[in-house]
Amino acid sequence: MFDAERFVEEQVQKARDTIRDNAIIACSGGVDSTVAAVIVNEAIGGRLLAVFVDTGLMRKGEKEEVQAMLERLGLNYKIVDASDEFFDALKGIVDPEMKRKVIGERFIRVFEREAREFGARFLVQGTIAPDWIESGDELRDTIKSHHNVGGIPKDMELELFEPLRDLYKDEVRVIARYLGVEVSERQPFPGPALAIRVLGEVNRENIEIVRNACFIVEDEIETAAKKGIMEFPWQYFAVLLPVQSVGVHGDARVYGKTVAVRSVRSIDGMSASYSRIPHEILERISLRITNEMKEQVNRVVYDITNKPPATIEWE
Ligand code: XMP
Repeated sequence: MFDAERFVEEQVQKARDTIRDNAIIACSGGVDSTVAAVIVNEAIGGRLLAVFVDTGLMRKGEKEEVQAMLERLGLNYKIVDASDEFFDALKGIVDPEMKRKVIGERFIRVFEREAREFGARFLVQGTIAPDWIESGDELRDTIKSHHNVGGIPKDMELELFEPLRDLYKDEVRVIARYLGVEVSERQPFPGPALAIRVLGEVNRENIEIVRNACFIVEDEIETAAKKGIMEFPWQYFAVLLPVQSVGVHGDARVYGKTVAVRSVRSIDGMSASYSRIPHEILERISLRITNEMKEQVNRVVYDITNKPPATIEWE
């Protein structure tokens, strides 16, 4: 059994020994970065600044929720609005690896600026094992460049401190429960955020569509799981496809967009099987998306692929 108490003690000590001056932590509000923040905060307290970057690519209400949690945790934090910068950098990019690299680089440039201002030499990240395994190296193929590993520019000014580097998600959750971190059971959300759930070019309009669709999928699945109609999936979300198709509203022809529903079971994200969402829940999701977003979306499809051969995210 994984010994959370011992792990935390060791990492607090290591942070104390390594980080002699100030540090910033890239904090998205997810379980990995929040656990890393609590551990390093225990070690160096006010010498740590938690930076939440508002990329414009986050889910509905996410910025406000993360801010409230950072307050409750009593961390020294800062919210940085960088959405224009991210949308500008993503203009015209359709290749998934390019998107990931551009986003990874933007994050680092924001962190470098904040670190300079705070007088920090270290960047703490909540990187976990699948992030660097999937990002590849001399020995491994790159499956996808996780923004916090393969997306880091070579000329980065900061030194990295990554206390969770060798752990898998299920182990991070054990530590999160031990530390009483409130997001311990939250579903994983990728660093490049909704940008990799818009296939094709990312712009504010497409992000708004996938944001609303993700909200509906999360809402319906969480409601059904709380009622015991289905189990809580490991991850559940919507993807906006670069596909248009013909539909009809009343008597009028429409040529609208397509949303895919993705929901998977997994232990550690390294492999996954698609979740058996009951048909009545799928139907509710489909009706809500095509009613609440009728100007944009006229078709909803359901992804029934396991990992492998697919991955969990579509990009
Ligand atoms: P895939 O899509 O490769 O994802 O099956 C495995 C798990 O990792 C998440 N994911 C990421 N997490 N940065 C992250 O922090 C990333 O760049 C990234 N890409 C994928 C994904 O949501 C799933 O939980």
